[in-house]
Order: sequence, then structure tokens, then C-alpha cells
Amino acid sequence: MKKKLLVGNWKMYIEKPEEAKRFIAACKRKAQNISGVDVVLAPSFTLLPTLAAAAGSRIKIAGQTVSPFDDAQHTGEVSAVMLKAAGAAWVIVGHSERRATEGALVPAQVAAAHNAGLMVVLCVGETERDPSGAHFSVVAGQLAQALMGANGKPAAAKVVVAYEPVWAIGKDASEALPPAELREMVIFIRKTLADLLGRAVGIKIPILYGGSVDAHNAPGLLAEGDISGFLVGRASTEVTSFIELMRICKK
Ligand code: 13P
Repeated sequence: MKKKLLVGNWKMYIEKPEEAKRFIAACKRKAQNISGVDVVLAPSFTLLPTLAAAAGSRIKIAGQTVSPFDDAQHTGEVSAVMLKAAGAAWVIVGHSERRATEGALVPAQVAAAHNAGLMVVLCVGETERDPSGAHFSVVAGQLAQALMGANGKPAAAKVVVAYEPVWAIGKDASEALPPAELREMVIFIRKTLADLLGRAVGIKIPILYGGSVDAHNAPGLLAEGDISGFLVGRASTEVTSFIELMRICKK
């Protein structure tokens, strides 16, 4: 069985280099004997070089977003090449906290990341659910846009899909998606990926879940949801809960 993947999205929770260094030092100390899980942390841009230097090879580093542009005249943007040079091997694209204002950029961001050789965590997820099941077509539309949109040449081998229902982000663990509903969505995502990319390619793309994951709900989501791991916000910013999630993922 392939190793599970645990991605921590620090958002703006951890702000200073000394906090990031403390986190990594404690994490390395306590996680010494935890192997069998791939770990990626996505700090803010300003912490990327610090974290990349401190993390060593055990923990990979991700950007939280990436510029869709590759020419220089874009004030305030951070290109995929810059991310890579700062030590990132991964980047999160299409997170709902950015999609709201820049969803149209997602295909170009995926292309920019792949051109620079970065692995992409592609976030998809509906804003709300209604009984008619419209959330399935929302997710299918996001996958088609991201994977077929840029130039019709998806680099599927370098994509991991993270299903993050927006309504379940930043809540109490009890309000996360129930495992049975996750399973249903994962089956749907797998079928959509197979339709878009061909079965052989589509079924190989790992699917993560994100949205109020912590040590309480993670075992059930993992066991029943048929997922390859998690994309975690808040619980990835506290060493004890993050290590706990590493342990759960390695089982
Ligand atoms: P929480 O785990 O804090 O709900 O955040 C989920 C998320 O948005 C990860 O990208």
C-alpha cells in the first residue's frame, strides 16, 4: 500500500521565523520514529526559506499559492520558479480562501507550477450543500477547469486532489464531513478524473480530505473515506496535534 500523505496548510497561523523553527525542532524530535507517512508543510511565503532549511528531507515544503504569470512585470506576485528556489517542492492551488476572488486563475497556476517542476495540491469543494446534489457538479466543474483548462495537457502525475468542502473548513471536528459522505464524494471524484484523463491515469491520482480534520475525526475519515491522506489547517499548526495526525496516517 502506498504511503499516506499529510499536508499542513499554515495559512497565516504561524507568522514568525522563530515560531516556525520551534515547530520544526519539536516535530523532528517527537516524530523521530514515525516513518511511513509523507509530510508536507505549507507556510506563508516569508517563512519558506526558514522552513525549508530547518525541515531537512523528512518534511517537504509547499507554497500556499503561486502566481499564474511567468513574466517579471507583476508587482507582489511570487512565481513558481521563486517558490522552487526558496525550497518548495509542492504548491497548493485553488484553495477556497483564494478561489473566491481568483478562481479563474487556477488552470494557469497549475500550468505554471508544473512548468517549474512543482507538485500541485489542487483544492476543490463546494461552498454549500443542497439536497439536489449540486455539489457534485460544482466539484466536477472545478476538476475539469483545473486539469483541462490551461493547454489541454494535464500533468496528472504531478497532481494530488484535495477535496475541501468550504462549509466544513475551520469548524469543530464534529462539524466535518461524515465519513460516509466523504466516501461518496471520493468515488465521484475518481470517476470524474477517469472520465477527464482516462482510467489508467485518473485512478492513480491521490485524493485527500480537508476541513476541520483533527485526531478525533481523522481515523474514521481515513478508514471509511477511501482517501490517501489529509490537507489540514489549524491542527497542523500545533505540534502535538500534527504529530498525532502523522501517527494516524502511518497506521
Ligand atoms: P481546517 O483544518 O482549519 O479546517 O482548514 C482546512 C483547510 O482549509 C486546509 O487547507
